[in-house]
Amino acid sequence: MCGIVGYVGERDAAPIIVESLVRLEYRGYDSAGVATIHEGRLYVEKDAGKLTEGGEPTDLQRRLKSLPGKIGIGHTRWATHGDPTRENAHPHTDCRDRIAVVHNGIIENFSELRQELEERGHRFTSETDTEVVPHLIEEFMSEGKSFFDAFVEAVKRLEGSYAIAAICVDEPDVILAARKESPLVVGLGEDGNFLASDIPAILPETNEVIPVDDGEVVVVKRDEVKILDAETLRDVTDEKEVQVVEEDPHRLERHGYPHFMLKEIHEQPEAVRNTLTIERDRLVEMAEELARGEYRRLYIVACGTSYHAGLGAKYAMEMLARFPVDVVIASEFRYVTRELVDEETLVLAISQSGETADTLAAVREANERGATTIALTNVVGSTITREVDHVMYTHAGFEKAVAATKTYTAQLAAMYTLTVELARRLGELTDKEAEEYHEELDRVPEMLERVLEWEREREVAVLGGRYKERPNWFFIGRGPGYPTAMEGALKLKEITYQHAEAYPAGELKHGPLALIEEGVPVVAVAQRGGVYEKMLANIEEVKARGATVITVAEEGDENVEEHSDHVIRVPRISEVFSPIVYTVPLQLLAYYMSVARGIDPDYPRNLAKSVTVE
Ligand code: AGP
Repeated sequence: MCGIVGYVGERDAAPIIVESLVRLEYRGYDSAGVATIHEGRLYVEKDAGKLTEGGEPTDLQRRLKSLPGKIGIGHTRWATHGDPTRENAHPHTDCRDRIAVVHNGIIENFSELRQELEERGHRFTSETDTEVVPHLIEEFMSEGKSFFDAFVEAVKRLEGSYAIAAICVDEPDVILAARKESPLVVGLGEDGNFLASDIPAILPETNEVIPVDDGEVVVVKRDEVKILDAETLRDVTDEKEVQVVEEDPHRLERHGYPHFMLKEIHEQPEAVRNTLTIERDRLVEMAEELARGEYRRLYIVACGTSYHAGLGAKYAMEMLARFPVDVVIASEFRYVTRELVDEETLVLAISQSGETADTLAAVREANERGATTIALTNVVGSTITREVDHVMYTHAGFEKAVAATKTYTAQLAAMYTLTVELARRLGELTDKEAEEYHEELDRVPEMLERVLEWEREREVAVLGGRYKERPNWFFIGRGPGYPTAMEGALKLKEITYQHAEAYPAGELKHGPLALIEEGVPVVAVAQRGGVYEKMLANIEEVKARGATVITVAEEGDENVEEHSDHVIRVPRISEVFSPIVYTVPLQLLAYYMSVARGIDPDYPRNLAKSVTVE
């Protein structure tokens, strides 16, 4: 996963490109680079390292911004082929430094192409797959082809996934781009035009965007944008819809919070409120679709945190609507479960970004087998929205931190609303009961505001600091508490680098209990409800073996005190909806432990926000 940007217009390109790259850093941040053209010469500056450190511009950022010229392309990298070094950073150039290319994706046939090009005398300077592209363009241009024709020919030779942008000193007023299975949008500005991997990168510059589809080539000039079918070269520009994005670009700033993650944690009341209100009618429509009874089975497919939202939805659908659900990790679904998909299958994909490669591949498999597909995503115009039969949105606002927080609780809010309506239609809830559940969901934003009161937050922050050196953590829960435990463990792993395991508490005795000894931290999710007593027994069980127990429980629950070292209190909520509230202190625990360990939680090592490669 990487981010790419391009600008051609009246202003200096490099500062615009670099600012956009900073906004794209969530897609990768192990190296960055920019190429511009000025007075017939190509300028390239790139290196390993980040563009910002602790919110401040780095030396690399200053160097990139200093390039001259009104046209340029830029890249922020998350290494797939080759270590994060200066040589492997993009842009990559041809032998004569006349063509520069940035790329997001993986070129699967790069070894063959490289060998072929080396045999023809091309000199390579990096270990990347991308470097074949400028050399291919150079090769075709050496046969007398124009930059455009050579670019199109080069793209035809590529196998794999790509969003590519290229510039060439021979045609210093045009950026060429192409897309296959990696996101790419065009931005239409007043004094120039833009290209980017996603909308937020260019949102402060323009809110008029055209999503580029697979198999399209884009020609971007200062006052003209053309989109063509890469195979036939038919001009499809007039068929493309210009989307006007309503998101306020100021929301993309940190607003005094030390990290985006903390800001986004605090935006959860609003994210849930907006999702419950703005999306309500659409969720009701989708509940009707599910209730029609035309489907033999429902698969929810997703990755990471979105998968945990799927698990939360499964518990709700099975508990409230008695509607059986299979939740499958998208990377497993695309190769194994797909065999079971047919026209009577409904596949609901959850993806905050709408760009996750495994989830998109699962959707494509489902479409090919005739299933009906639905997406729940946070990003308007994302790839997934164009690939499914029905779209539902969360309204969490743009999420920048790698660790998902507000999009998770917004996903749960959407899925719970859908579930209540489904249960009503299936006769599992009376109208009165359904309304009571909706009223409870409407109170969730207020509950989250209470969880996020500073007095409570500070207690969690203290725990994060106190236990920051404990290397092995267990998160246990039962029923809907289990997805909460899983999400708590994932947050801890990704931003504190401490090992964490989540288990259904009843499973401990089948193995993991052997690992519990003096001082091992166990976070117990102890919501009131059908499995509460059992959970208390599990807490006792780990405490008896010396664990340091941190229990999340509702206000006023005194039973949990006896066997817990610490109790984190949350407002009362029905067991079935408990993940939407109980997860929030666990996000805070991971956040404060990360900061106490000297890690930047917004940019955890080896991870990127959107995983657009397999
Ligand atoms: C969440 O904290 C992770 N960074 C990651 O697991 C994420 O949820 C996963 O990659 C799925 O992303 P998506 O929702 O954009 O598809």
